[in-house]
Amino acid sequence: MTGVIIQVITLILFLFFFEFFLVQAYNMIFRGYAPFLATKSVALRRLLSELKIKEGAKVYELGAGRAGFLRMLRKQYPKLELIGVEYSFFPWLIGRLQSAVGKGSIKFVRANILKVNLSDADVVYCYLNVSTMNKLEEKLGHEMRDGTQVVSYQFPLPSKEAEKVIDLGEEGKMFFYRY
Ligand SMILES: C[S@@+](CC[C@H](N)C(=O)[O-])C[C@H]1O[C@@H](n2cnc3c(N)ncnc32)[C@H](O)[C@@H]1O
Repeated sequence: MTGVIIQVITLILFLFFFEFFLVQAYNMIFRGYAPFLATKSVALRRLLSELKIKEGAKVYELGAGRAGFLRMLRKQYPKLELIGVEYSFFPWLIGRLQSAVGKGSIKFVRANILKVNLSDADVVYCYLNVSTMNKLEEKLGHEMRDGTQVVSYQFPLPSKEAEKVIDLGEEGKMFFYRY
């Protein structure tokens, strides 16, 4: 009996992982989505030391994954409105579960970032890929208010000039934009 239970659990876990990798591969190849990778904490710490955020600001992490940026941010700034936008089911679920632990709430929206209205954002953080940044630039150009800060890890916006670029050596680059 124990053997059967172990076999069933192993099969369920296998199906979960199989579906996760299959959906990730489909999203990357056919939709051009960035893969599920996390910004390293050394890069996040540096980012936080550079950002100045006013109390009550609305902050988005686009393609939130495990929402490492928002989770780190809420420790330093408990009064922000934090929103993670994530399309893929498993990263969204993992992000929600991880964010449920700890002080301060993070709202999670399961949606394509290109279809979410960002016009109320004060700060936007993203770690995506070249093709998504190309599509995002026009959207941000229409929706960002004067003064909104946008930070992209590793992938710059194709045409907008960065206000500041931080070189993190082996950890890559952080591009800061101001609208
Ligand atoms: C490189 S990971 C970054 C995760 C997290 N922001 C971080 O920095 O640790 C990119 C995430 O964006 C999500 N993603 C990619 N394209 C997306 C889109 N168009 N809409 C919503 N989520 C997207 C992926 O599923 C993945 O979880």
